[in-house]
Amino acid sequence: MIDYRVDADGVAVLTWNIEGRPVNVMNEETVAAFGDAVERALADGTVKGVVVASAKDDFVAGADVEKFLEDRSLEEIIALSVTMTRITRAMETGGKPFCAAINGHALGGGFEIALGCHHRIAADKPKTRVGLPEVTLGLLPGAGGTQRMSRMLGIQKSLELLLEGRRLPVEVAHKAGLIDAVVEPEDLLAAARKWVADNPNARQPWDDKGFRVPGGAVQSPVGQQVFPTAAAMTRARTWGNHPAPQAILSCVYEGLQVDIDTGLRIEAKYFANLLRDPRTKAMIKTTFFDMAAAKKLKSRPQGVDKAKFSRIGILGAGMMGAGIAYVSARAGMDVVLLDETREKAQAGKARYKAQVEAQIGKGRLSADAGTALLDRIEPTDTFADLAGCDLVIEAVFEDRELKATVTRKAADAAGTAALIASNTSTLPITGLAQAVDRPEAFIGLHFFSPVERMPMVEIILGEKTGDPALARAMDYVQAIGMTPIVVRDSRGFFTSRVFASYVLEGMTLLRDGVKPALIENAAKIGGMPVGPLEVTDATSLSLLWDVRRQWKLDLGDKFEPHPADTVLELMVETLDRPGRRAARGFYDYPAEGPKRLWHGLTEHFPLAEAQPDAETVARRLMHIQAVEALRCTREGIVGPTDANIGSILGWGFPAITGGVISYVGLKGSDTFSEECRDLAGRYGDRFLPPADIDSLLAA
Ligand code: NAI
Repeated sequence: MIDYRVDADGVAVLTWNIEGRPVNVMNEETVAAFGDAVERALADGTVKGVVVASAKDDFVAGADVEKFLEDRSLEEIIALSVTMTRITRAMETGGKPFCAAINGHALGGGFEIALGCHHRIAADKPKTRVGLPEVTLGLLPGAGGTQRMSRMLGIQKSLELLLEGRRLPVEVAHKAGLIDAVVEPEDLLAAARKWVADNPNARQPWDDKGFRVPGGAVQSPVGQQVFPTAAAMTRARTWGNHPAPQAILSCVYEGLQVDIDTGLRIEAKYFANLLRDPRTKAMIKTTFFDMAAAKKLKSRPQGVDKAKFSRIGILGAGMMGAGIAYVSARAGMDVVLLDETREKAQAGKARYKAQVEAQIGKGRLSADAGTALLDRIEPTDTFADLAGCDLVIEAVFEDRELKATVTRKAADAAGTAALIASNTSTLPITGLAQAVDRPEAFIGLHFFSPVERMPMVEIILGEKTGDPALARAMDYVQAIGMTPIVVRDSRGFFTSRVFASYVLEGMTLLRDGVKPALIENAAKIGGMPVGPLEVTDATSLSLLWDVRRQWKLDLGDKFEPHPADTVLELMVETLDRPGRRAARGFYDYPAEGPKRLWHGLTEHFPLAEAQPDAETVARRLMHIQAVEALRCTREGIVGPTDANIGSILGWGFPAITGGVISYVGLKGSDTFSEECRDLAGRYGDRFLPPADIDSLLAA
């Protein structure tokens, strides 16, 4: 597990080399083996110093996150941290110099081992990332990271890195002072050995008497300025919903006022409390495991050969079509981008030229790669150019007849091997599939806007969509680096339907006379990134109103009116406030200065005398989404795992809940049902929860 070798100069090299795993991960076994190796090196009289290295492509990738989901007592978790503390403190204070030879990624616990060494040398590899990203998993670095990083970089810089969890390129980490030297990969071990040989008396600065935190201690003027600001900013960003950033702040604040050993004990306590928090587990399960499995296409139908996409066609070079063309070309595919006229198609492509140039400017893309990317997009107005496409995605106006016409032409031009998809956001896929001769090869690929920033695609199965089409659609989504969820055809599919329940509830609250600012703030207290009124402005009230009217036409007697319909009608038809694009919606968007809630709202939606408390408003906004999502799972539209993933990636449901179905599990199904029935009694039957919720929660 840990190779132990001492060379002629008396330098011991401890090489992480975990058998049977592609990367070195830390768990009880591997940490124990490392601890033994450290002890052996310290006890070995021939050893003058130690290099910690790795035989894999990466250094140590971090903790075995699977173990974090196990149920453990507080004491057991604290014991894990204490073991790491014992090892790293032995390294620091054992009287021999330790140097980390960082040959690849060193993240989380892996980087904490490096921080426990007296010196860190990294191989110069542009792809290597180092840092403490624990906060992104709802955790904090529990192996000394908060204590050592803050003692190395000072309060302000360390808080920035710890609270954001950034993974830094080696050069950036070097400049920040987290890495002491960067060398050519082939020189790494020699450089580490030499440093050890040259520095027999290495000590950590915090073990010296008179150690001072760089930049100022907690009680210094700097500290007294930084902490309240950092706490306020964290609160503004998280609305108190995320326990991890809060705990990180506490670790640094409390830990820097005591010696390092006490600081490490403080960190262990906060770490254990976080790990035992059911919210942390829920977040890790969905965002770490379930999302990774979805990206690896766990639910892909078996027995269908992996599909390759070398040439694809896109119909409509508007906002969505151009975006889909860009992400496909970015993934190396040739893209035929078709619009009514060549000029429109070219204009769609041109919108992404600026994107590409910005990427080149930031050094994320070479100029050659950028040119090649754009060259792969071929604007056209001629259907015959679609010949030989493996896949055609339709993204023209949301008009059934138009979609049918262009899809039919495209399917004929592309040939019988092509998969045909629609990016419709509201029209049932089964109906659209009637336009083509091969409905089994027709599928929904619902992208989100802006395409290049939204990492998910909702794949929609029409009644006749075949398994091969599903498998190929999943392969495509994977090829463009996004995460698929798979849902059955129904009105609004899954994401738009549940998202609509949120924005419609926001408007209903307005109709009920709740203060607009209270509605928006309560949504954030509930954990939503954007309030329902603001997000409706962004998607456009008129679009939503069109959809509601279309559904009413389509469904006739079966259409279920919503109390928010009157709000939409008034805003769009009477008041001509269609949304963000027109700079007039629930908000005003002055040319100068920030947006603000439109002062006319209270005139048209008079305030109720008694205002509800924020918790009740938040509950209405969050529970309604969960009820709607449960209904979707009950109707077989989506499974609980995809519902969770889709809610976080698709419309920003708070990750700390583990997603919209997991949210119910965290509350407890009985409590949730009870609260919903109470809301139903007060505000309407839409809150009535489905029966037997427990059977809907399990994946
Ligand atoms: P858009 O209005 O920006 O683009 C539509 C494009 O289709 C225009 O460039 C138009 O010239 C082109 N077009 C119209 N008739 C055509 C024809 N006969 N042949 C070729 N091209 C033609 O619309 P947007 O927003 O890109 O939406 C496109 C589709 O994507 C719609 O079905 C919409 O519901 C769906 N969608 C939209 C989302 C959004 O956030 N805007 C999100 C997800 C799906």
